[in-house]
Amino acid sequence: MSKEHFGTLEDGTKVDIWTVRGGGITLRVLSYGGIVQTLELPDRHGHRANVALGFDNLDDYVAHSPYFGALIGRYGNRIARGRFTLDGTEYQVPVSDGPNSLHGGDQGFDKRVWAVEGFTDGGDGGLVLRRTSADGEMGFPGTLEVQVVYTLTADARWRIDYSATTDKATVVNLTSHTYFNLRGEGSGGVDDHEAEIAAHRFTPVDATQIPTGELAPVEGTPFDFRTAKAIGRDLRTPHQQILYGQGYDHNFVLDKGRTDLPEHVATVTDPVSGRTLRLATTEPGMQFYTGNFLAGAFAGPSGHVYRQGDAFCLETQHFPDSPNRPSFPSTVLRPGQTYRSTTVHSFGVS
Ligand code: BGC
Repeated sequence: MSKEHFGTLEDGTKVDIWTVRGGGITLRVLSYGGIVQTLELPDRHGHRANVALGFDNLDDYVAHSPYFGALIGRYGNRIARGRFTLDGTEYQVPVSDGPNSLHGGDQGFDKRVWAVEGFTDGGDGGLVLRRTSADGEMGFPGTLEVQVVYTLTADARWRIDYSATTDKATVVNLTSHTYFNLRGEGSGGVDDHEAEIAAHRFTPVDATQIPTGELAPVEGTPFDFRTAKAIGRDLRTPHQQILYGQGYDHNFVLDKGRTDLPEHVATVTDPVSGRTLRLATTEPGMQFYTGNFLAGAFAGPSGHVYRQGDAFCLETQHFPDSPNRPSFPSTVLRPGQTYRSTTVHSFGVS
């Protein structure tokens, strides 16, 4: 494990880059946003590549990152009109995506500097990231003490353990926004990656990407990934939901529901490199996003420009807009309770 200087923010704050190795994986993480800057893995011939989209300098992250590799909070995904009522009080959080709030507002956890410490534990090694989100930060109530642990295990797993406590009732929905391309960042589209998602239902959205409240069956729609299929197979079907998201940008209702231990929810395989990612989580939902808004406006560390569909994200979470949807699993956290969430990425080759 090692730490180096990565860059300096406008206000003079220094940002570190940490390197962690374990199980054949190399992870580079910034203290800014807890961003996974690179994630290197071998392919079926042992050739290594970085499978996470990102930038090689801090300025690009600050100026225009679409949440590449970042920790997302206090509320992952959208809250309709940035408004919700909790215990009779109405709260307004920043509107940052059309009429809605996205990913905790314009200065969310992805744009904050975290306190980072390295650790080793037997064959495992990793980082502990901590920050205090003040009462009222981005309009959310309660002082939130947040801890995120990234662990690389000797058996090629990248595990994320989130926990948080509050001193006032609040809403919390944390996730990680890594953009994966298992063939390597900058290698082109992921249409031919094969994906399987253990979900019989998803949450359809309106034209502003807010769930309608319905849990719709995936059967007979482009959203049916219960059996592995190429990501691109149904991506050009003119289904209203595909049009609203400009591709897949939807929350899947994971069949297993909220669980105390992480359970398998998805597998993605790149047929060319053979790299596979198996995902397990405690969360009840997962936003499957196919990098629809990557617009060819900037390049990554490989020097190649990122375009629409060059990556996929598997954002484990509670459902979007839960604070306004009593029928969805609750995202409310109260004093005395501990928010916990775990997601495990198991890497391999086929
Ligand atoms: C959202 C997308 C958004 C992306 C940020 C995803 O979680 O669902 O709509 O564009 O994050 O780049």
